[in-house]
Amino acid sequence: MSRSPFVAVNFQPTGALGRVTQDDIIRQMAAEIQAGRLRPNMRLPPVRTLEERFGISKNTVQAAYDELAARGLVESRARLGMFVAAVPEGNVSVPMFQASSAQLRASGLPSVQAVPSDHVRLDMVFIDWKLLPREQIADCMRSVLANPGLRPLYDGQGHAGLRAKIAARLSHRGMDVDPDDVILTGGSQQALDMVARSLQHRVIATENPVYSHARYLFAGLGCQLVPLTLNPFQSIDLAEWEETLRETRPALVYVIPHFQNPTGYSYSTSELERLLELSEELGFAILEDDWGSDMLSGSEFRPTLRALGGSNVLYVNSFTKKLLPSLRLGYIVASKATREALVAAKRLATLGNPEFLEAVLFEFMDRGYYDSHLARMNAELDLRYSACLSVLRETMPPEVRFSLPGGGPTLWLELPSQVNLRQLSERLSAQRIAIQMTHGHFYGKPHLDGFRVGYAYNEPHVMREAVARVAAELRQLVLQGEG
Ligand SMILES: Cc1ncc(COP(=O)(O)O)c(C=O)c1O
Repeated sequence: MSRSPFVAVNFQPTGALGRVTQDDIIRQMAAEIQAGRLRPNMRLPPVRTLEERFGISKNTVQAAYDELAARGLVESRARLGMFVAAVPEGNVSVPMFQASSAQLRASGLPSVQAVPSDHVRLDMVFIDWKLLPREQIADCMRSVLANPGLRPLYDGQGHAGLRAKIAARLSHRGMDVDPDDVILTGGSQQALDMVARSLQHRVIATENPVYSHARYLFAGLGCQLVPLTLNPFQSIDLAEWEETLRETRPALVYVIPHFQNPTGYSYSTSELERLLELSEELGFAILEDDWGSDMLSGSEFRPTLRALGGSNVLYVNSFTKKLLPSLRLGYIVASKATREALVAAKRLATLGNPEFLEAVLFEFMDRGYYDSHLARMNAELDLRYSACLSVLRETMPPEVRFSLPGGGPTLWLELPSQVNLRQLSERLSAQRIAIQMTHGHFYGKPHLDGFRVGYAYNEPHVMREAVARVAAELRQLVLQGEG
């Protein structure tokens, strides 16, 4: 098969001594593709060509191409080379779909990679289906359906009774919440979408690494993103954050201050307070994503940004991780000033969400089932968390470090930098163990070399065995790296 010619691509260097950096390649090539100047199916320069032309290492070029591939912008075709990714089928010849295809490209949303069903899932952030109170949910569903007063309609803001229940629960955690400020959403993801759509000045700062689907969403909506470096093994460099925020002036800072996804990091109270001070001084809003609360009974009481900072902070959470992922039920706590715009954003998208399911959740809470479920679930999660820590301590090579979140569903396992994560993932996949590839979490070249381990999903003995296999593979890869 003959190879097609490749296009010449130029880069503006920003590195020391006028060198092109990995980030230059990623940013500038992504911009060319998104602007349509590099078109689908064009062949891109081979790694060796860029290496020679710009005097940079092969690894730098390859890592840049890997990142662009992870964002769905380029694709490697066996024996043919590297290409601008083909437009997803169905969009090719339909001109009116071109805008959405550009949005898909801008987002970097990767296609869904199905993990074979026989794999042990160390990548999962969900709880084990077996821990869920199915019978109680079924009882509540039957009772809601049998209720002659069941409303056939829906409220754009969501079921009033459930909003009041949520406000009452949050007030026990020190948040002063008016039920009128609670908006029910299709998971937290819809809440993030509503907020991003409502911004006039579309610049959002997020942690780096960040919850990947927040990054894809914000990028897909055309927002400019500003990364704020986070390292779970150090406190936050707030002076650096401040400098970045002063320079870039985002409208919104999106953070996961407790048991952060993906690192498991929790902000100290002084970090929370400094962020609130900066928000007042620089005039940005804060979006607090509390995804991991109520998981692990020993998780310390953590003051939320919303509790400390009041209504300038938008607070989101959902029942996905604590109850049933497929319920797709979450909420955002807004304020008098933001409520109307956010409800309008939701109504424009969906008119309203399934109020029937909201009524079922209301019933579930009203009967006290949610509290008893959390108590039972957390007793089990405690066992799983401690099993995970003990097998990590017993089996991991000394070069490996891990965060100790004490809450939420995951921790971060940091590997020695010589270990190639893709190679590790392939070797584990051959043993039917799935781990998460992490480039989606980072902006450009990752400053961490690990991956997220979910401890809520697997039974302790299954997790112990899988983690021990990860440790065995790592030992081999470390030895190979040294040899
Ligand atoms: C940190 C974080 N926020 C928000 C979400 C969105 O979840 P959902 O829409 O299911 O509530 C997720 C999903 O994994 C997440 O990890």
